[in-house]
Amino acid sequence: MISDETIRNLIAQAITARENSYSPYSHYQVGAALLAEDGQIILGCNIENAAYTPTNCAERTAFFKAVSEGIRSFLAIAVVGSPAGEEITQFAYPCGVCRQVMMEFCDPAEFLIIVAKSQAEYVCLTLEQFLPNGFGPDNLGPSDRQEE
Ligand code: THU
Repeated sequence: MISDETIRNLIAQAITARENSYSPYSHYQVGAALLAEDGQIILGCNIENAAYTPTNCAERTAFFKAVSEGIRSFLAIAVVGSPAGEEITQFAYPCGVCRQVMMEFCDPAEFLIIVAKSQAEYVCLTLEQFLPNGFGPDNLGPSDRQEE
């Protein structure tokens, strides 16, 4: 279980991460702060591309940064999003692809997704609540999961 203080800190860091959003096409800026089991916080923003499809969401940026640094155990992620130049007045729920990436590395019953408008106003649900009956590594069986 993570404390309210930890949640508020994650949201503040997601708001900071959003400042680096590279989103010249959608002008929609997203920031994420991913809390690893060891206490590290990895930030991510959305990174768009002129060819559109290579665009990476903020959540996946944070996950891929972490995994590429050898971090694979996670507790929670905070996400904030809104159009450039606007106050954050909406909940930017993670897209389906990001939910599936979370499913790869997180226990769906335990991993928390915090979607925030501010440090005071947020929704906090488990990955399982966002992605019920998700397909994940367990479906393939323990012997098939590549651990190295
Ligand atoms: N986006 C995210 O970063 N996370 C999501 O979960 C949903 C969408 C980004 C992708 C794109 O750069 C912009 O928001 C508009 O779709």
